[in-house]
Amino acid sequence: MKLTYYGQSTVELVADGKTLLFDPFITPNELAKHIDVNSLKPDYILVSHGHGDHVADLVSIAKNSGAKVICIAEIAGWLGKQGVDNVHGMNIGGGFNFDFGRVKMVTAIHSSTLPDGSNGGNPAGFLIYSEGKVIYFAGDTALTYDMKLLADENLAWAIFPIGDNYTMGADDAIKAAAFVNCKNIIGVHYDSFPVIKIDKEEVAAKFVKAGLNLQLPAIGESVEL
Ligand code: NI
Ligand code: MN
Repeated sequence: MKLTYYGQSTVELVADGKTLLFDPFITPNELAKHIDVNSLKPDYILVSHGHGDHVADLVSIAKNSGAKVICIAEIAGWLGKQGVDNVHGMNIGGGFNFDFGRVKMVTAIHSSTLPDGSNGGNPAGFLIYSEGKVIYFAGDTALTYDMKLLADENLAWAIFPIGDNYTMGADDAIKAAAFVNCKNIIGVHYDSFPVIKIDKEEVAAKFVKAGLNLQLPAIGESVEL
C-alpha cells in the first residue's frame, strides 16, 4: 500500500488499486500551497469528523471526483444537503466490506461540529483492512483505553495525531502505540497552526527511544506501507 501525505491529517492511501483520501484539508493550509487539489481524484474519501481542518476540501473534491464518501451518519446527512449524494454513512463499531477491503469505524475522543455549526455526530477513527494488512487511522483523538481493543488486530501501521493541544501529543502517541501494539507510526496533525508546531527532532528522538518507527513524510511525499 502506498501512503502520500498532504499536510495536517490529509493522507492518501492506495489500497488494492483504489485511492482512499482521508480528511481533505489542503487549500487553506499554508504548508500545502504546492499541492494541486484539482489533481486529486480519489475513489473514496474517508472523513473522521466535521472540523474545518478535516473537511475544508471535502465537498469540492467529492463533487470533482465523484468519490464515495465514507463517514458517520450525521456527516453523511449533511453532505446530502451540500449536494453530495455518493455517501456511505456508518457509525462507531460498525464495519463494511468495500471493493478495496473492509472499513471499521472505531472510537475517537474529540468533538465534531461542522464548519456551519451543524452537528457532525461523534468523531471517529478507521481501521482499513486491505491487501492482507490492517491500517489504523486514529483521527483527531486523545489517548484512550479503547485503543487497547485494537491490540490483537496485528496492525501494520498506525496514523496518529502528534501535534498536542487539540489531540494527543508525542508522549501520548507513544503510549497509544503500546496500547494498539504497533511499532510503525505515521505522525500527522502538526505544524499547520502555531499551537500545534512541534520540534521534529525532539519528537523523533522520543519515538526512537521508545523503540518505535516514526515516519513524518514531507507534504507531497509518499511512503510504502
Ligand atoms: Ni478536530
Ligand atoms: Mn483537527
